[in-house]
Amino acid sequence: MIITIDGTSGSGKSTVSRKFAKKQNMSLLNTGSLYRKITLDCLISGIKIEDREAVISAAAHCDFEKKNEFHLNDEKISRLVPLIAQIPEVRKIVKDYQKELGTAGNIVIEGRDIGTVVFPEAPLKFYITASPETRARRKFEELKAKGIEEDYQMVLENIINRDRADEGRKISPLKIPDGAVVIDTSELTIEQVVGQMEEEVRELKAESGKRTDEVN
Ligand code: C5P
Repeated sequence: MIITIDGTSGSGKSTVSRKFAKKQNMSLLNTGSLYRKITLDCLISGIKIEDREAVISAAAHCDFEKKNEFHLNDEKISRLVPLIAQIPEVRKIVKDYQKELGTAGNIVIEGRDIGTVVFPEAPLKFYITASPETRARRKFEELKAKGIEEDYQMVLENIINRDRADEGRKISPLKIPDGAVVIDTSELTIEQVVGQMEEEVRELKAESGKRTDEVN
């Protein structure tokens, strides 16, 4: 089975996906890291983001298997990655890789367009979000805990700008997939969110069990 998890940045999507996949004993693909790895490769090779052909070539030669070996969450990468993610040829390369991994099944795939474009036929799709203020407050606290003093308004503005870039782009914009279960994490703990997701899996399995019984 393929389970897709899409949603806004800073919604807790990645943490929740990790815990959920572990509990379900499924493998996990975080697709943001694929776009981040291409961005890192461009930075290392001195490729300018405006040089489309060079970026596409970097994507085509990217070793996605090594996506976990680097610090992909640096602020510089976070800033540049939406620009790379809006190039159609780059998305095609990443989509082909995702399709290849997905066909093996038993996988949770997390991203922005997984339930809408990559695996719209997945039997269970989630959309995880939270208010921009909640996400900004969480990010602000996370940075503070690391000893980084950021201005709250700046953090909020960054989040709103990233939403705008992801939701407003022409190709594969971030949106709620048809039939997705929407979870707003603003007032929920990670455990509560994962609990709701597990409940959806139980319901889906009970439903398909009932359908099999009806056929037999
Ligand atoms: O999930 P994460 O914040 O690491 O993703 C980084 C960026 O990669 C997103 O802001 C988005 O621009 C892009 N992305 C995408 N499609 C995906 C996953 C990520 O466009 N499926």
